Amino acid sequence: MDLKTNYMGLELKNPIIIGSSSLTNSVESIKKMVANNAGAIVLKSLFEEQIINEINKPENFNLYSYPESIDYIKHYTREHNISNYLKLIGDSKKAVDIPVIASINCVSDKEWTAFAKRIEDAGADALELNISILPSDFNKSSEENEKIYFNIIEKVKSEISIPISIKMTRYSAGLSQLIQKLCWTKKVDGFVLFNRYYNPDIDIEKMKVISSNVFSTPDEIYVSLRWIALLSNNVECDFAATTGIHDGAGVIKQILAGAKAVQIVSSIYKNGPEYISTILNEIEKWMKNKNFNSLNDFRGKMSSKKSEHTADFERIQFMKYFDGIQ
Ligand SMILES: Cc1cc2nc3c(=O)[nH]c(=O)nc-3n(C[C@H](O)[C@H](O)[C@H](O)COP(=O)(O)O)c2cc1C
Repeated sequence: MDLKTNYMGLELKNPIIIGSSSLTNSVESIKKMVANNAGAIVLKSLFEEQIINEINKPENFNLYSYPESIDYIKHYTREHNISNYLKLIGDSKKAVDIPVIASINCVSDKEWTAFAKRIEDAGADALELNISILPSDFNKSSEENEKIYFNIIEKVKSEISIPISIKMTRYSAGLSQLIQKLCWTKKVDGFVLFNRYYNPDIDIEKMKVISSNVFSTPDEIYVSLRWIALLSNNVECDFAATTGIHDGAGVIKQILAGAKAVQIVSSIYKNGPEYISTILNEIEKWMKNKNFNSLNDFRGKMSSKKSEHTADFERIQFMKYFDGIQ
């Protein structure tokens, strides 16, 4: 079976990308993913917040009160963080022969955008931008929130020429148009739908805010499945699906919807890296039964332009299903 796929111009031997997480935070762990047949990896994110917080650590300012030291500390903390990350990129590239995608988690177009060049120079095959904007600020219009995406892309693209993907949030009122317009800039090569955020929960006994599950469940696949099906054939960029993909069936569904690749994290934490091969075997078995020889034979078959099911992906009311349930 031919499981090869081209994602943002990168040749992957199969569509399984291990998503950004501590599974991809060290060369040791990355090697394990590769030994078990991962198609590509996205490195753990460098957080814009993390850099800014480190630069502004109050204890540093107390220890060194004169301006030169403050400058030095700022420079050092910035350099230290970045150099660790750049080393991880370089070392991973030397250790494995699959695409290594760097990742930055960002909320603004501030100073981190200049780091992008060094990420490219360190050898990353692509850069994934996890733009994490929760539109919860009453003083910010949706246009203002969306403008941040364009500003970030503009600045980062002026620094680098490797492919760029945006790991999207689903919290956008005009999601289809936002993605289409970002694609039209010709500065974005791919979209990752959707990032799974930290979700606060409430403990009703202690009346405290607690964290909900860190790991996804297979039921969470449906949000990205709908949007990949709706967008993949209408937007001329590549799509990778993430969140809730836990088995071969999940990967097949996303490819039928039009995904070029999938990113998997929770099920690898739960089942170990060996599980990558199990998923690949499930895909091959299904392809054999259906007489498909390559992913191209069935990619996008159920996407909104190609199937008669567009209305099913657009429907959000249960209607007749509610009617039948007593
Ligand atoms: C422990 C853990 C750490 C993660 N760290 C990051 C990160 O640094 N950057 C990022 O973009 N996503 C991060 N993610 C999100 C994953 O890359 C992925 O998008 C999400 O878990 C959904 O995929 P899944 O359903 O297969 O888990 C993390 C997820 C987990 C569980």
